[in-house]
Amino acid sequence: MAELIVPAGGFTPAPAVPQPNIFPLEWRVETAKLAEIYERSKLQVWNPSDFDWHLLDPWDFTPEQRLGIMYWYAVLANFDGSGPAVFAKATIHAFEMHEEDPVRKCFFSITRDEMNHEECCQRVIERLVPGGPLDFDSALFGPNATLAEAAKNNIGWLYHNGGRYWRGYSESLSKYPLSILFTSFMMGEMAASTLFHGMSRKAGHPLFQEIFRKVGLDESRHLQICLTILENDWPGLEEEHKAMITRQLRAGFVFLSMVLWEPPNQFWDIPDYFMANHRVLVQHAREGGLGVLTYEEQAENWREALAKVAKLVERWGIEFPAIPELDISGVDVGEIEAADIIPVF
Ligand SMILES: [Fe+2]
Ligand SMILES: [Fe+2]
Repeated sequence: MAELIVPAGGFTPAPAVPQPNIFPLEWRVETAKLAEIYERSKLQVWNPSDFDWHLLDPWDFTPEQRLGIMYWYAVLANFDGSGPAVFAKATIHAFEMHEEDPVRKCFFSITRDEMNHEECCQRVIERLVPGGPLDFDSALFGPNATLAEAAKNNIGWLYHNGGRYWRGYSESLSKYPLSILFTSFMMGEMAASTLFHGMSRKAGHPLFQEIFRKVGLDESRHLQICLTILENDWPGLEEEHKAMITRQLRAGFVFLSMVLWEPPNQFWDIPDYFMANHRVLVQHAREGGLGVLTYEEQAENWREALAKVAKLVERWGIEFPAIPELDISGVDVGEIEAADIIPVF
């Protein structure tokens, strides 16, 4: 049998790994609640392939409704489609920074969930408008070809905007403290859980009800993850970071309003006809039983979600930004640039 070697001068210590760097070789648990949430994420996991997709029969909808629902899901995909990459990147960052094990795992679980959410967008679009949202033949819609072109054009503009914030987000990971990032994540999750719970109640179609219910449940869990992490991080916040968070909250409103309500005249680079066509398409989706709230209902929903966010951040002495669009008073944070946007949903 080979013998153990112990050099006369003792073992040579391995060189220290330069930081920040690869995976941590430990599984530190500092926040038991996060470990619990991660366990729950494994139990509540669901599979988009298991839905009764045959219930979504394209022939049950008028061509206008098919285009409207496809359009709404394409708008959503501009948010949900960034989810897997955003959280995958945040997961890698959490590993590099040697965040405690449950933080790493929770981020991984959000990445997993967001992949499912994106898959729902993909499947609805593929069933209703094969080749959609960008690569289908508008002429196939005959008398509705112009509506189809308008949908495609709007989606193209949204995609262009989606491409504008990616670089800013990538750079923000190493630039901002995690608490700033998490505040943006928290706002996105608050928005998402509010939106999907509202839509699951309003949707007329059983498949949409089911999708929104499942997605909404995931989003509530994501929100809990963010809130738990923030409870750890917020107490140590510096004044300068508080001001950054106030600005981030306004950026979140500007960004998320595109899917929750209607976007303000800030950040969004869209042609002047965009909103008019958006309203027509969303109305068709609404009439198709997708459960899209009315303009007023959306505003009320958004206002409620923001009130919850405001209450949370105020506890930690963070001021809320002015959102005159919804009659919410607060601090004026000036212009919002693409670099301010932390995409999340
Ligand atoms: Fe999501
Ligand atoms: Fe989420």
